[in-house]
Amino acid sequence: MKNTLYKAAIESGKIVKEYFETSFKIESKDIISNLVTEVDKKSETKIIEIIKVDFPEHNILSEEIGALETSSDIKWIIDPIDGTINYAHKIPICCVSIGIEKAGEIIFGIVYNPMSGEMFFAEKGKGAFLNDEKISVTKENNLKKALLVTGFPYVAADIPYKPIKAFSAFLDMDLPIRRLGSAALDLCWTALGRFDGFWEYNLHPWDVAAGYLIMTEAGGKVTDFKGGKYSIYEKEILATNGLIHDDMLKVLKSL
Ligand code: IPD
Ligand code: CA
Ligand code: CA
Repeated sequence: MKNTLYKAAIESGKIVKEYFETSFKIESKDIISNLVTEVDKKSETKIIEIIKVDFPEHNILSEEIGALETSSDIKWIIDPIDGTINYAHKIPICCVSIGIEKAGEIIFGIVYNPMSGEMFFAEKGKGAFLNDEKISVTKENNLKKALLVTGFPYVAADIPYKPIKAFSAFLDMDLPIRRLGSAALDLCWTALGRFDGFWEYNLHPWDVAAGYLIMTEAGGKVTDFKGGKYSIYEKEILATNGLIHDDMLKVLKSL
C-alpha cells in the first residue's frame, strides 16, 4: 500500500504543480466562497485511478466525489487539494492529502505540497517523516512562548462566533497566531515543529486523516476540545506538542 500511496501523491502532485501557474476553471460549491477548481477534480481522478489499479476492492472517501463503498475494511481518505482557496489565488500553501484507514484506525498518511517539494509521510508505529527525515514536535512547554496556528471554516453558522471567540481568547493572551489555509499543512507543520499547537472547528475527515497520523507519529497529542479521544469524523481538533495541550484545552473549554 505504501508504494501506491506514494505514487498517488507524486502523480497527483505533478498535476497540481503543472496547473499552478495557468488559468483553470474555478466553481463554487455549496456556498459561493467554498471553491473547487478543475485541478481538484483532475488530481482526485488521478489518485483514484492509481488506487483502483492496485486495490480495486478498497473503500474510497474523497472530498469531491464522496464515498465509494465496498465490503473491505480498508478506506483511502483523500483530499485532492487541501487549501483550494490558496491554490485558486496562486498562493503555494496547499497540498495533496491521503490517509489510509484500516478497521477504523489510520495506518498511513501522506501530505505532499508539490510547489514546495515537501512530502510528509507517516506509518502507524513507525514515526513521521519530511522527505525521508524523521520529524518531531517541539519541546516548548510554556504556552506564553508558543506559536499557534488555526483555520476558519467556510460554514460556521452551526457554531456562531465560536472560531472567532477562540481566536480572540488566544490573542488576549498575547500569543502569536498564524492562519495558513490548509488544515493538512497546519498539522504537518505542527508535527515538524514550526508551530507548537493547532486548533480548528468544523473540519472533515479528508482534511485531517493523513495529518492526524503524521502529528501523532511525530510525538504530538490530538484530542477534541474537551480533551477526549479524537476521531477524524468529529469536527473539532486540538493538536499540540503535548506539553501545552492542557493549557490550550483550558482556553477552549472556557468558551
Ligand atoms: C479547507 C482547508 C482550510 C480549512 C477549511 C477546509 P479545502 O480545505 O483545510 O485550512 O480552514 O475548513 O475546508 O476546502 O481547501 O480542501
Ligand atoms: Ca480540505
Ligand atoms: Ca480540498
